[in-house]
Amino acid sequence: MIGSPIIIALDFPGAAAAIEFTRRLDASLCRVKVGKELFTATGPGLVEALQRQGFDVFLDLKFHDIPNTVAGACRAAAGLGVWMVNVHALGGRAMMRTARDALEGAVRRPLLTAVTVLTSLSAADLPEIGLSGTPEENVLRLAALARDAGLDGVVCSAHEAKALRSTLGERFPLVTPGIRMPDDAAGDQSRIVTPRDAIAAGATYLVVGRPVTRAAEPNAALARILADIAQARARGA
Ligand code: C5P
Repeated sequence: MIGSPIIIALDFPGAAAAIEFTRRLDASLCRVKVGKELFTATGPGLVEALQRQGFDVFLDLKFHDIPNTVAGACRAAAGLGVWMVNVHALGGRAMMRTARDALEGAVRRPLLTAVTVLTSLSAADLPEIGLSGTPEENVLRLAALARDAGLDGVVCSAHEAKALRSTLGERFPLVTPGIRMPDDAAGDQSRIVTPRDAIAAGATYLVVGRPVTRAAEPNAALARILADIAQARARGA
């Protein structure tokens, strides 16, 4: 992997707040994630501004539609120059494969990752949407489907990383949110993992929001996270 394993979630309501924050952030220490709220409020101009600031952008729009539509959306994301874009694995093999194929000719091909089962869904929610088995069984099945469809990785909880590593091998990228240092506030996250434990479990990229976006010194908060990761790596993770 080239570049930082840390992806900062820019969960801001508008461009001004996002840009004011990223001006204080060292682009050599992290990448950034633009999600549905910020993108819907600001559009592609913000993504371009972030890229001009030197950031790799993960466009986290979780596309889920018919193959032709998702392929077009992924092609548009590639045209914007983003580093990573994602889809829902529940869109199925043909949707993921078509999206992947649509990116083939891109000047700078973004990494294409898949969300498996939303972590907001509990075991009790799955039968209602037609999924049998436990959440973990569904995550493993959908992640294997994403890999077989040619995707570049999956977004998952760090708690699932170990099982995914043993099913999918050492090299398939895993993008994990829900990261907190031991003394960080959990906020609304319930199953949090420290950076070093996430890396030890097999995570490739860590999505971090409030521990950095709400820090008085964002680069110092980032440096602490990177030091924590370095410790896991020094122990052979
Ligand atoms: O502030 P915090 O570190 O909790 O932000 C985590 C980011 O990761 C948010 O953008 C959130 O939407 C995203 N995310 C998550 N849990 C998931 C999937 C995405 O927290 N299962």
